Amino acid sequence: MAKIAFFSTQSYDRRFFENSSGKHSFEFFETRLKPNTVKLANGFDGVCVFVNDRVNEEVLKSLSDMKVGLVALRCAGFNNVDLKAAEKYNIRVMRVPAYSPEAVAEHAMALIMSLARKIHKAYSRVREGNFSLEKLSGFTIHGKTIGVIGTGKIGQAFINIAKGFGAEVIAYDKFPNEKVSKDGVRYYDFDTVLAKSDILSLHCPLTPETHHLINRESLAKMKEGAMLVNTSRGKLVDTASVIESLKNGHLGSLAIDVYEQEEKLFFRDLSDLVIRDDQIAQLMIFPNVLITAHQGFFTAESLQEITNTTLKNFDDYQEGRSSENEVSCSLIKDC
Ligand code: NAI
Repeated sequence: MAKIAFFSTQSYDRRFFENSSGKHSFEFFETRLKPNTVKLANGFDGVCVFVNDRVNEEVLKSLSDMKVGLVALRCAGFNNVDLKAAEKYNIRVMRVPAYSPEAVAEHAMALIMSLARKIHKAYSRVREGNFSLEKLSGFTIHGKTIGVIGTGKIGQAFINIAKGFGAEVIAYDKFPNEKVSKDGVRYYDFDTVLAKSDILSLHCPLTPETHHLINRESLAKMKEGAMLVNTSRGKLVDTASVIESLKNGHLGSLAIDVYEQEEKLFFRDLSDLVIRDDQIAQLMIFPNVLITAHQGFFTAESLQEITNTTLKNFDDYQEGRSSENEVSCSLIKDC
């Protein structure tokens, strides 16, 4: 039996994990894992973390000092873990590589549809008894060019949906996928995808190379009036440049499920507080911006899959087995 300390616990994590296997013992902490909370992991075999826990060298060294040998991510992305330090301190890192790529892809399309047809504005308008259509005119997705950056599991699920709309789908990936090309999606270089897309949707991981992939220069190369959609990781986008581009009218609209500084905001109810992050406060009042708080993954099906795979990861760790869900430096460049 492995003793696991959960960090960043939400009620649904507790519900799903408590209802599953009695093989391991869990303790649930609401706080994020970071240097000043890592002591809570003392006496446990492993920690189970989410997207905004800070698993840096300092945290990993402390875990190693406390003989905690496993970092189990309840997510696919692992950009918040210093894999080099994990290797140095001999700590195994496992993740849930795919739970429901379709869930994230569907959320990306839901954002696009809402923004394209101003559903977010229409919803509040009708609730107030205002049935006017003035200023609600949108655009038809059929026939538009949708650019996909990153054609992995989520990118491909998104492409299938986008094709169903009758959009022309084009893509950029550092490692183009033959199957995607065979399915009729044409790959171009990054700049060409920027220039051709009416809607640009990001589905690549956050790495040192993709940090601020969307910045002042790349925004300037985008089509005037285009929509930018980010359901991948906040730091892919330089928020200051996006605000500037929205203000000068070059970027037509923005839909984000992830935000550069989301660590300080997301997964918490801050409704009785003043939001001190000026950039998100500004984006929240733009009429052509739609923000959700990292809920792309959040379906019953995904939560069950995350639970099942994470429990299997605990089993593999406990039994000393190798795992296809293990992440290590060899998986990424610039580790
Ligand atoms: P994946 O690993 O299947 O696909 C990623 C694709 O990006 C691959 O085809 C890869 O070749 C490509 N790529 C790598 N470096 C690139 C670069 N420099 N430029 C362009 N493309 C590059 O990953 P998957 O499962 O499709 O997930 C993508 C991302 O979605 C994750 O890294 C994560 O950040 C995000 N995500 C967001 C969720 C949410 O709730 N909003 C939930 C799950 C994942």
